[in-house]
Amino acid sequence: MPTTSLGWGLLGAGGIAGAFARDLIPRGHRVVAVGSRDADRASAFADRHGIPHAHHGYQALVNDPDVDVIYVATPHSHHLEHALLAIEAGKHLLVEKAFTITGDEAQTLADAARARGVFVMEAMWSRFLPTMVAVRERIAAGDLGELLSVTADHSQVLDLSPGSRMIEPSLGGGALLDLGVYCVSLAHDLLGPVTRIQASGVVDDAGVDHRGAAILDHEGGGISTVTFSMEALGANSATVVGTAGVIELQPSFYEWVRYSRRSSGDRSALVESYEPERDGRGMQFQAAEVERCIASGRLESELMPLDESVAIMRVMDEIRRQLRG
Ligand SMILES: NC(=O)c1ccc[n+]([C@@H]2O[C@H](COP(=O)([O-])OP(=O)(O)OC[C@H]3O[C@@H](n4cnc5c(N)ncnc54)[C@H](OP(=O)(O)O)[C@@H]3O)[C@@H](O)[C@H]2O)c1
Repeated sequence: MPTTSLGWGLLGAGGIAGAFARDLIPRGHRVVAVGSRDADRASAFADRHGIPHAHHGYQALVNDPDVDVIYVATPHSHHLEHALLAIEAGKHLLVEKAFTITGDEAQTLADAARARGVFVMEAMWSRFLPTMVAVRERIAAGDLGELLSVTADHSQVLDLSPGSRMIEPSLGGGALLDLGVYCVSLAHDLLGPVTRIQASGVVDDAGVDHRGAAILDHEGGGISTVTFSMEALGANSATVVGTAGVIELQPSFYEWVRYSRRSSGDRSALVESYEPERDGRGMQFQAAEVERCIASGRLESELMPLDESVAIMRVMDEIRRQLRG
């Protein structure tokens, strides 16, 4: 349920903006405006979702006095530019994953938000889903003991036809930014900062990565392995291993997902089976976090802080550098 009467403005009228509107509006969040580069697309999107204001252009959207918080739903290549537009207008922000293209861009965004005193969070929506909340509670309660490793795969068949943003370098195409980011973010969330990276993968002639894998060493001794592909369906599961227990997140770990928890000593003994109660696609939980933070005067989320988004982007920089050889 919404925690404030904040007005949301959607920047870009593409695929994920539609999914966000479908999750938020029926659950009582106030989506008051959409902005598109194309006036007809903005109007059609607004009509489809019952959104009161349709703006031609993003500047008009960020200038709308009814808009308090902007959701940036454009390709990765444009997140920084569009976020800065909203920050200059003094709007709070939720920015789609991957946060930016590079760690340096992420730092620029974080610095600009802090200088202007507006709230900004990366839309890593999986962190806010009930399953991940339950996993973090189990870990905090010590049920897994000391965490040793995380494995995560995000592999899907995406649109690789000519013109698709997935294979377009100028739009930040590639499996790492779109899919691998979920795995890196999960590992970073549970095991902490990364100290060493070994990566390998397949990159096309334009420098766009199609699939890859990385082994990450984390501060404190944890190790994670992440795999990602936009060419084929993979396991899409994740496993969190501790000295006292293991949690297996069944496909797909980044969305509505069940988990099984077993004790370390006896694989056949199921200690807990968790099944979330589904409610839409699940993007409303991150929106609720944004609203909670802004309502309480916070400019960052403790669950997805800016410095962590910057750190994750720097890990991705190094993975991409190694993939490209
Ligand atoms: N959370 C999730 O589950 C999830 C799922 C899919 C994607 N995403 C993320 O959401 C973002 C957008 O992905 P999407 O799948 O929604 O993409 P999309 O369907 O292609 O929509 C992107 C929108 O960005 C706008 N845009 C602005 N400048 C553009 C440019 N130069 N080229 C193309 N489009 C431009 C366009 O809207 P207008 O023309 O209307 O202005 C376009 O419709 C990405 O960061 C992606 O990683 C998240």
